Amino acid sequence: MRRRGIFFTLEGIDGTGKSTQHRLLVRYLRSQGRKVVSTREPGGTAVGERVRSILLASRTGELAPLAELALIYAARAQHLEEVVRPALARGEIVVSDRFNDASFAYQGYGRQLGIKTVRAFDRIIRGQTQADLTIVLDLDPRLALARAQGREIRRNSPRGRFEAAGLEFHQRVRAGYLAIARREPRRVKVVKADRAVAEIQAEIREIVHEFLARHHQARGVRSAGSAIR
Ligand code: TYD
Repeated sequence: MRRRGIFFTLEGIDGTGKSTQHRLLVRYLRSQGRKVVSTREPGGTAVGERVRSILLASRTGELAPLAELALIYAARAQHLEEVVRPALARGEIVVSDRFNDASFAYQGYGRQLGIKTVRAFDRIIRGQTQADLTIVLDLDPRLALARAQGREIRRNSPRGRFEAAGLEFHQRVRAGYLAIARREPRRVKVVKADRAVAEIQAEIREIVHEFLARHHQARGVRSAGSAIR
């Protein structure tokens, strides 16, 4: 299957405002007349959403870290098969709220399973399908956690299992994301998230524009600039 589409992912610890930025980016790209598939992990498919509810409903410590990793990759296998690869094959833009970097950051660094273990799952399940561009929203975990907890209180929902993991856990996850960004600076861009929603979105769009300009140039599309803006 020849791959023609573009794959964008958004990442960051809980409470960075990632889902809002995801929604705004999808809306923006669509307003430019692009065909966009908006999706998320864990989830994105009926099976994946069921796995997501297991992950989110399990009590702290109940789920062994390896079981958690395997569940997340099961959902990812389904998501890739059912949503991501078909959309890319159709030449569409896929924008996913989280993807495999989350497993390296959360399970590899956060749960301390190590990147070798995550990579083993990744090699088999993700295979060749890699994000073309990843935005990491970066925020001090103390601020992020306060925001995430505030949101749960407002929604009157129980404290999320992932969010209950605490400050040190999220500090490791953040360090994980920053390490990934250092290793792959071309693909992974870090955006500071301690600012107004509109400001963050403006920087994300800038990065996306730049990527699309390079992408179209590489594919020999004429007057890429006008096609993008
Ligand atoms: P998310 O959708 O960001 O949560 P919310 O419902 O608050 O918007 O993600 C749910 C949780 O799943 C989040 O705490 C991160 C975790 N997660 C992992 O631990 N590993 C992964 O590979 C993925 C995709 C998510």
